[in-house]
Amino acid sequence: MTQPDLPRDLYAAIEDLKRARNAVLLAHYYQEGDIQDLADFVGDSLQLSQAAAKTDADVIVFAGVHFMAETAKIVNPGKIVVLPDLEAGCSLADQCPADRFAEFIAAHPGHKVVSYINCSAGVKALSDVICTSSNAVDMVKLFPADQPLIFAPDRNLGAYVQKQTGRELVLWNGTCQVHETFSERKLVALKVEHPGALVLAHPECEPQVLRHADFIGSTAAILNYAVGRPTTTFIVVTESGILHQMRKAAPDKTFIPAPPEANCACNECPYMKRNTLEKLYLALRDLEPRIEMPEALRVAAWRPIQRMLARDLSAA
Ligand code: 13P
Ligand code: SF4
Repeated sequence: MTQPDLPRDLYAAIEDLKRARNAVLLAHYYQEGDIQDLADFVGDSLQLSQAAAKTDADVIVFAGVHFMAETAKIVNPGKIVVLPDLEAGCSLADQCPADRFAEFIAAHPGHKVVSYINCSAGVKALSDVICTSSNAVDMVKLFPADQPLIFAPDRNLGAYVQKQTGRELVLWNGTCQVHETFSERKLVALKVEHPGALVLAHPECEPQVLRHADFIGSTAAILNYAVGRPTTTFIVVTESGILHQMRKAAPDKTFIPAPPEANCACNECPYMKRNTLEKLYLALRDLEPRIEMPEALRVAAWRPIQRMLARDLSAA
């Protein structure tokens, strides 16, 4: 039922407010299709952090999860950054509290720290460089081969990077609650059912799932791969929100979401899906809830992000 203080045409009202506020709407591929369609830019985590760093809008509305909006604020302290639902968190970020991570680093003297962008500002501030799923291998390769490294907080992405680089990494034991649900057994059955299909997987998936993949990459890389190949059927092993852009970009192709182990909708991220059109409208109208943090924390968290964006460990 429509709430009394909400306009009938939410699409038009959101467009009007975006103009009135000089706001840019950034959306991740895991958002609902209607939010993606309203966005000024849809991308993966790296593309969104780059877009946030270079926007000249006064307001950034982040249709994604908390660590993404926080990153936008870290690179853009002068702008208002709103997240439609402050409870839109991330299991990876939650599993790596900054105080415990500081103890972990202290227990590994001489190690440098590469942290996946799916972490809090507090964890970023303890890191030497940030990475995303699209550049994790490259960020690790920036360090001399004999430099001991910690990789946090995703053990699956870390294991994938170890395999790609041949380097030993000390892994923090975190996982994405969405990507760890995919079932190897059901994936193999689906491959048998669709013998011509290619399997596209996100590196947050577990190794026993990744070993069946024809292509492993970030959400944007998976999308580009599927659009660019002559193959017509793909099994997609990541959060199901990406299917919206895949079907838009290649309407004649067939995209099959890989099944989770249980009979559930656990291939949908419950954090990403907390954002709704209604909350988006209210966030633009009220410019709340905002992302704020102490300046000292912001600067400490900005340095490793800046090194990632510059692809240079001596930057910042
Ligand atoms: P990418 O956007 O880098 O593909 O990561 C996916 C993800 O899980 C974001 O939370
Ligand atoms: Fe976090 Fe996984 Fe959701 Fe991405 S899909 S926001 S990694 S819980």
